[in-house]
Amino acid sequence: MRAVPEICLSLTGPTIRENLARLERYRPYIDLVELRADLLEQAEFGAIGRFPELAGVPAVLAVRKEQDGGRFGGGEDERRALFEAAFAARERGFAYLELEEEVPVPPGARRAVEEGMTRIIRARYCGAGVPVDLRNASHGLSRGTEIPKLVTAPRSTAELLALYGCAKADPADGRGPGERILYGTGPFGFPSRVLASRFGSRFVYTEPAEHDDPPGVLDPETLAVTYRFRELTDRTRLFGIIGDPVLHSRSPAIHNPAFTRLGFDAVYVPFPLDDIAQFLPLAEAFGIEGLSVTVPHKERVIPYLAAIDDAVAKTGACNTVIKTEAGFRGCNTDVYGFLTPLIAALRSRGAVTSDGSRSGGALRGITASVIGAGGAARSVVYALRSEGASVLILNRTPERAARLADEFGCSWAPLDEAGFTAMERFRDIVVQTTTAGMTPYEDEDPAAGFHFTGTEIAYDIVYHPPLTRFLSRAKDAGCTVIGGLEMLLHQGYRQFYLFTGQPYPEP
Ligand code: ATR
Repeated sequence: MRAVPEICLSLTGPTIRENLARLERYRPYIDLVELRADLLEQAEFGAIGRFPELAGVPAVLAVRKEQDGGRFGGGEDERRALFEAAFAARERGFAYLELEEEVPVPPGARRAVEEGMTRIIRARYCGAGVPVDLRNASHGLSRGTEIPKLVTAPRSTAELLALYGCAKADPADGRGPGERILYGTGPFGFPSRVLASRFGSRFVYTEPAEHDDPPGVLDPETLAVTYRFRELTDRTRLFGIIGDPVLHSRSPAIHNPAFTRLGFDAVYVPFPLDDIAQFLPLAEAFGIEGLSVTVPHKERVIPYLAAIDDAVAKTGACNTVIKTEAGFRGCNTDVYGFLTPLIAALRSRGAVTSDGSRSGGALRGITASVIGAGGAARSVVYALRSEGASVLILNRTPERAARLADEFGCSWAPLDEAGFTAMERFRDIVVQTTTAGMTPYEDEDPAAGFHFTGTEIAYDIVYHPPLTRFLSRAKDAGCTVIGGLEMLLHQGYRQFYLFTGQPYPEP
């Protein structure tokens, strides 16, 4: 079994004090810290030597230069002086010192290195992309007990795969297991950090979470708890989500904690996928067993599948793929996710008695209006019709409503006064499927001319904001309302069942 990589918290604050506060917040989840001295205020330089003792965990000292993405603007003499000061107190000194390949070990640090108290990390920052000769790039980077560190910046899924190919071809870099550091930065590098053990990396670098973080910042708690980092082994089963962008997805927070609750040895990782042609190579390389599929790949993935279920065939949208012996099978759990809270709401009113998702007729005798005729409306209309509801489709561009209605045996109307009048006969359920009302269009309500009486079930598939103007109006009128978050959760629960064969365990 591979060694579990250690979780390193990168400390990028302006003062030692602030960095120690950040460390305290994450102490239970980390194995070591990296002090980025290039980001410290100059007045702090004199105190760097005391940092390891104050930190109480092994510490890496890094003074990264501007050309390597750091902020140290001074010359090499200044940097050497900083190293000397940092190593002046040798008792509880830095466990690691990061140096670039051409830089000699500073005299002040030599004794600590010779006595084995400090190990040198030899870092090479490759800049944008992944070098074609990646193997050569890491070979010969370090000598003796030095640890080579190779940082790349994959710009595509293909480049992430190149990085993984290199990691697998030479898992130990000619050394013992886990005796090198290797990862990719940026969105496409994200999986290389969560799956550091598969990349044979000794450390995985994490950062404190802030409120305005861009998606993809990995903090130690998320890594250790959500991604079960310390429990990942060679046997851990791999699932995930493909999309572009995908790092903002809430799905990892739906699936991973449920794996933990069930004691199911699996991890769910977001994989940014810029080119659908890389879907099969990605799945194959990592041995992925199942994936959620999101924008813009729900339609594009279909030609790569060995089989599709009826909902995918009829809606043209696939949001889940499951590995089978023949290849990947495509499913659409949005349909299930949409229907589950709806049928529950109808059942609590006594309007349906059977379980519609099994009988296929739970909505017989029920009328529904669907606002919108785009891709999302298609899944909704399919779901409603497959359960036997009578449906009216309304759209700003009436031709699209007519086409969709024709395909699924529905009525249609333009999204105007005449349409709102037509809705009078299709008002048990009113579903909003357009992008109007979604952040940043919170002020819009595409059905503003329709007046709720309070008897309708109003359903908005938008989940951000949780209460759209459309839903808030329905709520004020006394309607039962269902928000998009419920649909999102239930489609995820269904995926979980397809991934694991077990029902989603509620928290
Ligand atoms: P999706 O896959 O999210 O459904 P889509 O296929 O682009 O996206 O469809 C967007 C839907 O939102 C369409 O029904 C669109 O109406 P048009 O067909 O007339 O374009 C609808 N839509 C978007 N903005 C709208 C607005 N401001 N008012 C009313 N409908 C709107």
